[in-house]
Amino acid sequence: MPRHITINRRFALTAASVFAALAIAGCGKQEPASAPSAAGAPAAPAPARVLVVGTDAAYTPFESQNDRGEIVGFDIEVVKAVAQKAGFEVKFVNTPWEGIFNSLDQGDRDLLVSAITITDERRQTMDFSQPYFDARQLIAVRNDAPIAKFEDIKTLKVGVQNGTTGDEVVGKLLGKSNTAIKRFESTPLALKELEAGGVQAVVADNGVVVHYLANNTAGGFKTVSDTSFPVEKYGIAVKKGNAELLARINQGLEAIRADGTYAKIYASYFGSESK
Ligand code: ARG
Repeated sequence: MPRHITINRRFALTAASVFAALAIAGCGKQEPASAPSAAGAPAAPAPARVLVVGTDAAYTPFESQNDRGEIVGFDIEVVKAVAQKAGFEVKFVNTPWEGIFNSLDQGDRDLLVSAITITDERRQTMDFSQPYFDARQLIAVRNDAPIAKFEDIKTLKVGVQNGTTGDEVVGKLLGKSNTAIKRFESTPLALKELEAGGVQAVVADNGVVVHYLANNTAGGFKTVSDTSFPVEKYGIAVKKGNAELLARINQGLEAIRADGTYAKIYASYFGSESK
């Protein structure tokens, strides 16, 4: 292939990315812009809007705030890499879990990355990207607790983050309205309460529980896994119907898997990639 053809193709791709980003940006609260074809591009396009990403940044190592107040973590790096490939800009905004899905629906956030498990129920009200991470629930208890499986926590006070999949599985076992379930605004708060003795078990995503206990200076806690917990898949969420942005995100995810970027990010947080 002659060289200039490669260059022209690259230019065409870049131009297409810019137009797509503009089209996506137009899909906020304003009227949804139909995607302009590359041929009929506007003469003087306004700069693409930076897409606002909501994340509950209290979920190390997926998302947290560092000493300088910057939002960092595995999810953050994945979305930054996706955005780069897909040709849009992102800004992360700390968004409490309680209102996170609502913020998407209201158009205050363009996308969400927050270790969000794709569930059928959530699919009713938002759209998800292809899965980008596998997780499972994991139980944390005191070292000396006679707990070997999920059933064994039936008689304990159990801490969960309100409205999470952990909350859901525990609700199924103990009964949703059982007062032994203590619901917290954040997972770290639930784990602090475990240390303080206010609850005797916490059920949350494995990555977060493992990370917390490994960094817990006091120690004295163990994890208990249970095969009855289903495999959960994390997805990036967009407002229901924002097919354009979703397609860009999926393209970006595919691209970072294909060129090894995903594996690199994964390895830097979790060791060598398993799949
Ligand atoms: N994966 C769980 C869920 O989707 C918990 C996610 C909590 N994420 C967070 N950043 N606090 O329900």
